[in-house]
Amino acid sequence: MKEGRILFLNEAECKRLLPLPKVLELMETVLIEHAEGTATLPVKLHMGLRPDYNGYINSMPSYLKKHHVYGVKLAGCHYENPKKGLPTSIGTINLYNPENGLPFAIMDGTYITDIRTGAMAGVAAKFLSGPAPQVLTIVGAGMQGRTASLSILASCPTIQEVRLIEINPTMLSVYMQTVGKAYPNVNFRHLQDIQQACTGAQIVHVAHSAPKPLVRDITFDKGATVILTAEPFIARQWLDTFDTRVTDFPECLVTRLNQEAEYYSQRDGLPYDPLTPDFSDVTIGEVVAGKHPGRKTPDEVIVAVFVGMSIEDVICAKEVYDRAVEQGFGTELRLLDL
Ligand SMILES: NC(=O)c1ccc[n+]([C@@H]2O[C@H](COP(=O)([O-])OP(=O)(O)OC[C@H]3O[C@@H](n4cnc5c(N)ncnc54)[C@H](O)[C@@H]3O)[C@@H](O)[C@H]2O)c1
Repeated sequence: MKEGRILFLNEAECKRLLPLPKVLELMETVLIEHAEGTATLPVKLHMGLRPDYNGYINSMPSYLKKHHVYGVKLAGCHYENPKKGLPTSIGTINLYNPENGLPFAIMDGTYITDIRTGAMAGVAAKFLSGPAPQVLTIVGAGMQGRTASLSILASCPTIQEVRLIEINPTMLSVYMQTVGKAYPNVNFRHLQDIQQACTGAQIVHVAHSAPKPLVRDITFDKGATVILTAEPFIARQWLDTFDTRVTDFPECLVTRLNQEAEYYSQRDGLPYDPLTPDFSDVTIGEVVAGKHPGRKTPDEVIVAVFVGMSIEDVICAKEVYDRAVEQGFGTELRLLDL
Protein backbone atom coordinates (compact mmCIF):
# COMPACT_ATOMS: atom_id res chain seq x y z
CA MET A 1 0.00 0.00 0.00
CA LYS A 2 1.20 3.54 -0.78
CA GLU A 3 2.36 5.77 2.07
CA GLY A 4 -0.39 8.07 3.33
CA ARG A 5 -3.07 5.45 2.62
CA ILE A 6 -5.03 3.62 5.29
CA LEU A 7 -6.62 0.19 5.08
CA PHE A 8 -10.05 0.23 6.74
CA LEU A 9 -11.22 -3.16 8.03
CA ASN A 10 -14.68 -3.76 9.45
CA GLU A 11 -15.90 -6.26 12.05
CA ALA A 12 -16.87 -8.93 9.51
CA GLU A 13 -13.41 -8.75 7.90
CA CYS A 14 -11.67 -8.97 11.29
CA LYS A 15 -13.78 -12.03 12.19
CA ARG A 16 -12.97 -13.72 8.91
CA LEU A 17 -9.23 -13.07 9.12
CA LEU A 18 -8.63 -13.83 12.81
CA PRO A 19 -9.75 -17.29 13.96
CA LEU A 20 -9.53 -18.27 17.64
CA PRO A 21 -6.69 -20.87 17.31
CA LYS A 22 -4.49 -18.16 15.76
CA VAL A 23 -5.35 -15.73 18.58
CA LEU A 24 -4.43 -18.31 21.24
CA GLU A 25 -1.05 -18.68 19.51
CA LEU A 26 -0.58 -14.89 19.20
CA MET A 27 -1.32 -14.31 22.89
CA GLU A 28 1.46 -16.68 23.93
CA THR A 29 3.84 -15.07 21.41
CA VAL A 30 3.20 -11.53 22.59
CA LEU A 31 3.33 -12.45 26.29
CA ILE A 32 6.78 -13.94 25.74
CA GLU A 33 7.88 -10.86 23.78
CA HIS A 34 6.70 -8.65 26.64
CA ALA A 35 8.50 -10.80 29.22
CA GLU A 36 11.67 -10.59 27.08
CA GLY A 37 11.42 -6.80 26.84
CA THR A 38 10.73 -6.31 23.10
CA ALA A 39 7.17 -5.05 23.59
CA THR A 40 6.60 -1.60 25.07
CA LEU A 41 3.41 -1.24 27.07
CA PRO A 42 2.70 2.09 28.79
CA VAL A 43 0.00 2.32 31.45
CA LYS A 44 -3.32 2.81 29.71
CA LEU A 45 -5.39 5.91 30.27
CA HIS A 46 -8.78 5.17 31.78
CA MET A 47 -11.53 7.80 31.64
CA GLY A 48 -14.84 7.14 33.34
CA LEU A 49 -17.93 8.84 31.86
CA ARG A 50 -19.94 8.49 35.05
CA PRO A 51 -22.29 9.91 36.30
CA ASP A 52 -23.44 11.12 32.83
CA TYR A 53 -23.15 7.71 31.24
CA ASN A 54 -22.61 4.31 32.82
CA GLY A 55 -19.35 3.52 31.05
CA TYR A 56 -15.75 4.44 30.30
CA ILE A 57 -13.17 4.71 27.55
CA ASN A 58 -9.53 3.57 27.59
CA SER A 59 -6.65 4.81 25.44
CA MET A 60 -4.24 1.89 25.02
CA PRO A 61 -0.93 2.30 23.11
CA SER A 62 1.86 -0.23 22.62
CA TYR A 63 4.92 -0.89 20.43
CA LEU A 64 5.88 -4.34 19.17
CA LYS A 65 9.47 -4.11 18.05
CA LYS A 66 9.64 -7.58 16.47
CA HIS A 67 6.52 -6.93 14.39
CA HIS A 68 7.65 -3.45 13.31
CA VAL A 69 4.42 -1.79 14.41
CA TYR A 70 2.90 0.40 17.05
CA GLY A 71 -0.76 0.94 17.63
CA VAL A 72 -3.46 2.39 19.81
CA LYS A 73 -6.73 0.85 20.79
CA LEU A 74 -9.48 3.22 21.86
CA ALA A 75 -12.10 1.12 23.53
CA GLY A 76 -14.51 1.18 26.39
CA CYS A 77 -17.58 -0.29 27.96
CA HIS A 78 -21.12 1.10 28.08
CA TYR A 79 -23.07 -1.00 30.51
CA GLU A 80 -26.54 0.13 29.34
CA ASN A 81 -25.81 -0.92 25.73
CA PRO A 82 -27.30 -4.44 25.85
CA LYS A 83 -30.74 -2.81 26.52
CA LYS A 84 -30.31 -0.98 23.18
CA GLY A 85 -29.16 -4.08 21.34
CA LEU A 86 -25.53 -2.87 21.28
CA PRO A 87 -22.43 -4.65 22.58
CA THR A 88 -21.13 -3.55 26.01
CA SER A 89 -17.47 -3.38 24.89
CA ILE A 90 -16.78 -1.39 21.67
CA GLY A 91 -13.57 -0.04 20.16
CA THR A 92 -11.29 0.75 17.23
CA ILE A 93 -7.59 0.02 16.65
CA ASN A 94 -5.15 2.17 14.66
CA LEU A 95 -1.78 0.85 13.45
CA TYR A 96 1.29 2.98 12.65
CA ASN A 97 4.69 2.57 11.03
CA PRO A 98 7.27 3.05 13.83
CA GLU A 99 9.85 4.51 11.40
CA ASN A 100 7.83 7.56 10.40
CA GLY A 101 4.58 7.56 12.39
CA LEU A 102 2.40 7.08 9.31
CA PRO A 103 -0.89 5.38 10.14
CA PHE A 104 -1.65 2.46 7.82
CA ALA A 105 -4.72 0.72 9.26
CA ILE A 106 -7.93 1.50 11.12
CA MET A 107 -10.06 -1.42 12.11
CA ASP A 108 -12.85 -2.62 14.32
CA GLY A 109 -11.60 -3.28 17.84
CA THR A 110 -14.81 -4.80 19.17
CA TYR A 111 -14.26 -8.32 17.86
CA ILE A 112 -10.52 -8.17 18.59
CA THR A 113 -11.16 -7.10 22.21
CA ASP A 114 -13.64 -9.89 22.61
CA ILE A 115 -11.52 -12.66 21.09
CA ARG A 116 -8.18 -11.66 22.64
CA THR A 117 -9.74 -11.29 26.12
CA GLY A 118 -11.27 -14.73 25.77
CA ALA A 119 -7.98 -16.13 24.49
CA MET A 120 -6.16 -14.78 27.54
CA ALA A 121 -8.55 -16.78 29.71
CA GLY A 122 -7.65 -19.83 27.60
CA VAL A 123 -3.92 -19.15 28.11
CA ALA A 124 -4.48 -18.75 31.88
CA ALA A 125 -6.39 -22.04 32.00
CA LYS A 126 -3.67 -23.84 30.02
CA PHE A 127 -0.77 -22.56 32.13
CA LEU A 128 -2.35 -22.28 35.60
CA SER A 129 -4.91 -25.03 36.01
CA GLY A 130 -4.10 -28.40 37.56
CA PRO A 131 -3.88 -31.56 35.45
CA ALA A 132 -6.97 -32.67 33.46
CA PRO A 133 -9.64 -30.15 34.65
CA GLN A 134 -13.16 -31.51 34.16
CA VAL A 135 -15.55 -28.82 35.36
CA LEU A 136 -15.61 -25.17 34.25
CA THR A 137 -17.89 -22.56 35.83
CA ILE A 138 -18.77 -19.41 33.90
CA VAL A 139 -20.07 -16.47 35.95
CA GLY A 140 -21.55 -14.10 33.34
CA ALA A 141 -22.25 -15.72 29.98
CA GLY A 142 -22.13 -12.52 27.89
CA MET A 143 -19.63 -11.67 25.18
CA GLN A 144 -16.47 -12.23 27.27
CA GLY A 145 -18.02 -15.29 28.91
CA ARG A 146 -18.64 -16.83 25.48
CA THR A 147 -15.17 -16.27 24.03
CA ALA A 148 -13.52 -17.27 27.31
CA SER A 149 -15.50 -20.52 27.26
CA LEU A 150 -14.49 -21.28 23.67
CA SER A 151 -10.84 -20.56 24.52
CA ILE A 152 -10.79 -22.52 27.78
CA LEU A 153 -12.52 -25.50 26.15
CA ALA A 154 -9.98 -25.39 23.30
CA SER A 155 -7.06 -25.16 25.76
CA CYS A 156 -8.38 -27.80 28.21
CA PRO A 157 -9.95 -30.64 26.17
CA THR A 158 -10.56 -32.73 29.33
CA ILE A 159 -13.45 -30.46 30.42
CA GLN A 160 -16.72 -32.41 30.40
CA GLU A 161 -19.09 -30.06 32.19
CA VAL A 162 -19.71 -26.30 32.00
CA ARG A 163 -21.86 -24.63 34.67
CA LEU A 164 -23.43 -21.31 33.77
CA ILE A 165 -24.43 -18.45 36.05
CA GLU A 166 -26.32 -15.90 33.93
CA ILE A 167 -29.38 -13.74 34.66
CA ASN A 168 -30.32 -12.79 31.09
CA PRO A 169 -32.18 -15.55 29.16
CA THR A 170 -31.26 -13.97 25.80
CA MET A 171 -27.54 -14.09 26.65
CA LEU A 172 -27.95 -17.68 27.77
CA SER A 173 -29.60 -18.61 24.50
CA VAL A 174 -26.85 -16.88 22.44
CA TYR A 175 -24.28 -18.73 24.56
CA MET A 176 -25.85 -22.10 23.83
CA GLN A 177 -26.15 -21.28 20.11
CA THR A 178 -22.42 -20.56 19.93
CA VAL A 179 -20.50 -22.43 22.66
CA GLY A 180 -23.10 -25.18 23.13
CA LYS A 181 -23.17 -25.87 19.39
CA ALA A 182 -19.39 -25.90 19.12
CA TYR A 183 -19.08 -28.48 21.95
CA PRO A 184 -21.98 -30.97 21.58
CA ASN A 185 -20.29 -33.54 23.85
CA VAL A 186 -19.89 -31.19 26.80
CA ASN A 187 -22.66 -31.08 29.42
CA PHE A 188 -23.88 -27.46 29.87
CA ARG A 189 -25.90 -26.70 33.02
CA HIS A 190 -27.59 -23.43 33.97
CA LEU A 191 -27.46 -22.95 37.75
CA GLN A 192 -28.83 -20.20 40.00
CA ASP A 193 -26.52 -20.55 42.99
CA ILE A 194 -22.91 -19.38 42.51
CA GLN A 195 -21.51 -21.39 45.43
CA GLN A 196 -23.15 -24.56 44.12
CA ALA A 197 -21.76 -23.82 40.65
CA CYS A 198 -18.23 -23.29 41.97
CA THR A 199 -18.06 -26.29 44.30
CA GLY A 200 -16.38 -29.06 42.32
CA ALA A 201 -15.15 -26.71 39.58
CA GLN A 202 -11.44 -26.70 38.73
CA ILE A 203 -11.69 -23.52 36.63
CA VAL A 204 -13.97 -20.54 37.29
CA HIS A 205 -14.21 -17.65 34.82
CA VAL A 206 -15.82 -14.41 35.97
CA ALA A 207 -16.91 -11.63 33.55
CA HIS A 208 -20.19 -9.95 34.30
CA SER A 209 -21.76 -6.51 34.27
CA ALA A 210 -23.35 -6.55 37.74
CA PRO A 211 -22.32 -3.42 39.72
CA LYS A 212 -21.34 -5.56 42.72
CA PRO A 213 -18.91 -8.43 43.29
CA LEU A 214 -20.42 -11.85 42.66
CA VAL A 215 -17.67 -14.24 43.80
CA ARG A 216 -16.17 -12.45 46.82
CA ASP A 217 -18.00 -14.63 49.34
CA ILE A 218 -17.49 -17.87 47.45
CA THR A 219 -15.33 -20.72 48.78
CA PHE A 220 -13.35 -22.33 45.98
CA ASP A 221 -12.19 -25.94 45.95
CA LYS A 222 -8.56 -26.83 46.55
CA GLY A 223 -6.63 -26.64 43.28
CA ALA A 224 -9.10 -24.24 41.62
CA THR A 225 -8.01 -21.57 39.14
CA VAL A 226 -10.20 -18.46 39.30
CA ILE A 227 -9.90 -16.17 36.29
CA LEU A 228 -11.28 -12.68 36.84
CA THR A 229 -11.88 -10.82 33.60
CA ALA A 230 -14.48 -8.50 35.15
CA GLU A 231 -15.37 -8.48 38.84
CA PRO A 232 -15.83 -5.08 40.56
CA PHE A 233 -14.61 -4.09 44.05
CA ILE A 234 -11.64 -6.45 44.15
CA ALA A 235 -10.23 -5.90 47.63
CA ARG A 236 -6.63 -6.61 48.64
CA GLN A 237 -7.77 -8.49 51.72
CA TRP A 238 -9.79 -10.86 49.52
CA LEU A 239 -6.96 -11.35 47.01
CA ASP A 240 -4.68 -12.33 49.89
CA THR A 241 -6.94 -15.30 50.63
CA PHE A 242 -5.68 -16.98 47.42
CA ASP A 243 -2.38 -18.90 47.44
CA THR A 244 -1.01 -17.26 44.27
CA ARG A 245 -2.06 -14.07 42.48
CA VAL A 246 -1.33 -13.81 38.77
CA THR A 247 -1.98 -10.64 36.75
CA ASP A 248 -1.54 -9.39 33.21
CA PHE A 249 -0.59 -5.76 33.88
CA PRO A 250 -0.63 -4.88 37.62
CA GLU A 251 -0.08 -1.12 37.23
CA CYS A 252 -3.03 -0.77 34.87
CA LEU A 253 -5.13 -3.08 36.88
CA VAL A 254 -4.85 -1.12 40.10
CA THR A 255 -5.36 2.24 38.34
CA ARG A 256 -8.50 1.01 36.64
CA LEU A 257 -9.99 -0.95 39.55
CA ASN A 258 -9.25 1.83 42.03
CA GLN A 259 -10.91 4.51 39.87
CA GLU A 260 -14.03 2.42 39.51
CA ALA A 261 -14.14 1.45 43.19
CA GLU A 262 -13.63 5.08 44.25
CA TYR A 263 -16.56 6.21 42.11
CA TYR A 264 -18.91 3.53 43.43
CA SER A 265 -17.80 4.04 47.02
CA GLN A 266 -18.53 7.79 46.76
CA ARG A 267 -21.88 7.12 45.12
CA ASP A 268 -23.01 4.38 47.47
CA GLY A 269 -21.10 5.32 50.65
CA LEU A 270 -19.13 2.05 50.61
CA PRO A 271 -15.68 1.60 52.20
CA TYR A 272 -12.85 2.06 49.70
CA ASP A 273 -9.76 -0.14 49.99
CA PRO A 274 -7.31 0.95 47.23
CA LEU A 275 -5.12 -1.75 45.70
CA THR A 276 -1.38 -1.39 45.08
CA PRO A 277 0.52 -3.28 42.33
CA ASP A 278 2.51 -5.32 44.85
CA PHE A 279 -0.48 -7.62 45.38
CA SER A 280 0.61 -9.44 42.19
CA ASP A 281 2.93 -12.43 42.74
CA VAL A 282 3.69 -12.96 39.08
CA THR A 283 2.50 -11.89 35.62
CA ILE A 284 1.03 -14.35 33.15
CA GLY A 285 3.82 -13.40 30.71
CA GLU A 286 6.47 -14.60 33.16
CA VAL A 287 4.61 -17.90 33.48
CA VAL A 288 4.18 -18.38 29.72
CA ALA A 289 7.84 -17.44 29.15
CA GLY A 290 8.88 -20.15 31.64
CA LYS A 291 10.38 -17.69 34.15
CA HIS A 292 7.91 -18.73 36.87
CA PRO A 293 6.03 -22.01 37.36
CA GLY A 294 2.65 -20.34 37.95
CA ARG A 295 1.08 -23.27 39.81
CA LYS A 296 3.48 -24.69 42.40
CA THR A 297 1.24 -27.35 44.02
CA PRO A 298 -1.85 -29.26 42.83
CA ASP A 299 -3.88 -27.99 45.81
CA GLU A 300 -3.18 -24.29 45.72
CA VAL A 301 -5.96 -21.90 44.72
CA ILE A 302 -4.80 -19.43 42.10
CA VAL A 303 -6.49 -16.17 41.14
CA ALA A 304 -5.67 -14.61 37.77
CA VAL A 305 -6.83 -11.00 37.39
CA PHE A 306 -6.71 -9.61 33.86
CA VAL A 307 -7.43 -6.02 32.86
CA GLY A 308 -6.43 -6.36 29.19
CA MET A 309 -3.23 -5.16 27.51
CA SER A 310 -2.72 -3.16 24.32
CA ILE A 311 -0.01 -5.58 23.13
CA GLU A 312 -2.73 -8.24 22.78
CA ASP A 313 -4.79 -5.92 20.57
CA VAL A 314 -1.92 -4.67 18.44
CA ILE A 315 -0.55 -8.13 17.62
CA CYS A 316 -4.07 -9.25 16.60
CA ALA A 317 -4.61 -6.09 14.53
CA LYS A 318 -1.26 -6.60 12.74
CA GLU A 319 -2.25 -10.18 11.94
CA VAL A 320 -5.59 -8.98 10.52
CA TYR A 321 -3.80 -6.32 8.45
CA ASP A 322 -1.19 -8.76 7.07
CA ARG A 323 -3.84 -11.34 6.12
CA ALA A 324 -6.05 -8.60 4.60
CA VAL A 325 -3.21 -7.38 2.36
CA GLU A 326 -2.39 -10.96 1.37
CA GLN A 327 -6.00 -11.85 0.55
CA GLY A 328 -7.23 -8.49 -0.79
CA PHE A 329 -9.66 -7.53 1.99
CA GLY A 330 -10.49 -4.05 3.30
CA THR A 331 -11.13 -0.60 1.88
CA GLU A 332 -8.19 1.63 1.04
CA LEU A 333 -8.65 5.26 2.13
CA ARG A 334 -6.49 8.24 1.25
CA LEU A 335 -5.44 10.15 4.36
CA LEU A 336 -2.56 12.41 3.31
CA ASP A 337 -1.68 14.19 0.04
CA LEU A 338 1.60 12.34 -0.50
N1 LIG B 1 -10.20 -7.84 31.31
C1 LIG B 1 -10.34 -7.52 30.04
O1 LIG B 1 -9.40 -7.62 29.25
C2 LIG B 1 -11.67 -7.09 29.56
C3 LIG B 1 -11.88 -6.84 28.19
C4 LIG B 1 -13.13 -6.50 27.76
C5 LIG B 1 -14.17 -6.37 28.68
N2 LIG B 1 -13.93 -6.58 30.00
C6 LIG B 1 -14.99 -6.46 30.99
O2 LIG B 1 -15.87 -7.57 30.85
C7 LIG B 1 -17.15 -7.19 31.37
C8 LIG B 1 -18.20 -7.88 30.58
O3 LIG B 1 -18.12 -7.45 29.24
P1 LIG B 1 -18.96 -8.20 28.13
O4 LIG B 1 -18.53 -7.61 26.82
O5 LIG B 1 -18.91 -9.66 28.33
O6 LIG B 1 -20.41 -7.67 28.52
P2 LIG B 1 -21.80 -8.40 28.27
O7 LIG B 1 -22.82 -7.38 28.58
O8 LIG B 1 -21.81 -9.05 26.94
O9 LIG B 1 -21.81 -9.58 29.36
C9 LIG B 1 -21.97 -9.37 30.73
C10 LIG B 1 -22.91 -10.46 31.22
O10 LIG B 1 -23.02 -10.42 32.65
C11 LIG B 1 -24.36 -10.82 32.94
N3 LIG B 1 -24.72 -10.46 34.30
C12 LIG B 1 -24.97 -9.23 34.81
N4 LIG B 1 -25.32 -9.34 36.11
C13 LIG B 1 -25.26 -10.65 36.41
C14 LIG B 1 -25.52 -11.39 37.59
N5 LIG B 1 -25.89 -10.79 38.73
N6 LIG B 1 -25.38 -12.73 37.56
C15 LIG B 1 -25.00 -13.35 36.41
N7 LIG B 1 -24.77 -12.70 35.25
C16 LIG B 1 -24.89 -11.37 35.26
C17 LIG B 1 -25.17 -10.08 31.89
O11 LIG B 1 -26.48 -10.59 31.78
C18 LIG B 1 -24.32 -10.33 30.65
O12 LIG B 1 -24.68 -11.50 29.98
C19 LIG B 1 -17.17 -5.67 31.35
O13 LIG B 1 -17.27 -5.21 32.69
C20 LIG B 1 -15.84 -5.25 30.81
O14 LIG B 1 -15.30 -4.18 31.56
C21 LIG B 1 -12.71 -6.93 30.45
